[in-house]
Amino acid sequence: MNQDAAHLFPFRISAIVAATRGNVIGKDNVMPWHLPADLKYFKQTTWGKPLIMGRKTFESMGGKALPGRPHIVITRQMQWSAPDVEVVHNLSDAFRAAAKYQTSEVFVTGGADIFQQAWAYLQRIYLTRIHADIEGNRYFPHIDPHEWQLIREQYHEADEKNPYAMSFQVWERKR
Ligand SMILES: NC(=O)c1ccc[n+]([C@@H]2O[C@H](COP(=O)([O-])OP(=O)(O)OC[C@H]3O[C@@H](n4cnc5c(N)ncnc54)[C@H](OP(=O)(O)O)[C@@H]3O)[C@@H](O)[C@H]2O)c1
Repeated sequence: MNQDAAHLFPFRISAIVAATRGNVIGKDNVMPWHLPADLKYFKQTTWGKPLIMGRKTFESMGGKALPGRPHIVITRQMQWSAPDVEVVHNLSDAFRAAAKYQTSEVFVTGGADIFQQAWAYLQRIYLTRIHADIEGNRYFPHIDPHEWQLIREQYHEADEKNPYAMSFQVWERKR
């Protein structure tokens, strides 16, 4: 599948991710923070829409599907399975599987490996920018402002439940 082929799908292909100032998204197969405001934003934004994710990200969520959203999990292991998920073995098949749901948008939800491979097909990025430097070993690609424009941004202060301030940003690929 090439980049143009992605536009043949009748839905927007978006990524949704939380990343620190240094683009850290994970450490040792978990997210090294707990930000309930971001979890709520993730739920609201993705509700009812298919999620495409790598097998490691799925397992990092405790190996359980989230309610209210079809899960499409990518793995090279032919025997791998989990309850309430559709298993595919490459990214093209993931997009084809999402097409069954007659949706306006599908969400690539990570991790680093899958974001990297899906990058050329992404039309939108919902980025929660965490205003902190946190150590990790998985990274989101740099969003080049020559290629992407910020279309929405909402700031959320740190509070008693959320230890870091964050900005809910929406980036769209320039045409
Ligand atoms: N901050 C955030 O918003 C966010 C979001 C998601 C994830 N994360 C973090 O990211 C980390 C996980 O990311 P990751 O890069 O290690 O792993 P990942 O992208 O979640 O999953 C990688 C796995 O996907 C499968 N895969 C990848 N490319 C494939 C292909 N072309 N065809 C078939 N299968 C393919 C392979 O599974 P098999 O090994 O089974 O073959 C591979 O090991 C965790 O720390 C997680 O917490 C953070």
